[in-house]
Amino acid sequence: MQSVEKELFLKAVKAREHAYSPYSGFRVGAALLCEDGSIYTGCNIENAAYSPTNCAERTAFYKAVSEGKRKFKMIAIAGGRETLVMCTPCGVCRQVMAEFCDAETFQIVCGEDEEHLKIKCLKEFLPYAFQL
Ligand code: THU
Repeated sequence: MQSVEKELFLKAVKAREHAYSPYSGFRVGAALLCEDGSIYTGCNIENAAYSPTNCAERTAFYKAVSEGKRKFKMIAIAGGRETLVMCTPCGVCRQVMAEFCDAETFQIVCGEDEEHLKIKCLKEFLPYAFQL
């Protein structure tokens, strides 16, 4: 039996295959586990005008939220150019996570491979998140 973290990370690796990143060459995949057990994946989608670029994490979140999901447990992220590197979520994606996730219980899984995963809660990545 594989751990949930490992299983989710492998789904992120698979989602990375769809990355559209002709400008940076940096390919990212994400897999988001909802509280109901469903999983939404995403990849980064770049644009010639640069700023419309969407990160893999936000692609996964927006797919899930747009289908009615609001409660999330964990996200795994896999990124790199030729080979995977330790890829942590950017500040904008952390803020999107803060919109929907509990800072102390939502888990973020990152790593260079499925045998060396770092698992931290959102609060560790984004203390003092902005909230209205
Ligand atoms: N990127 C992500 O998709 N997720 C991250 O956590 C960091 C950065 C993307 C954005 C851009 O397409 C490329 O990686 C290089 O910044």
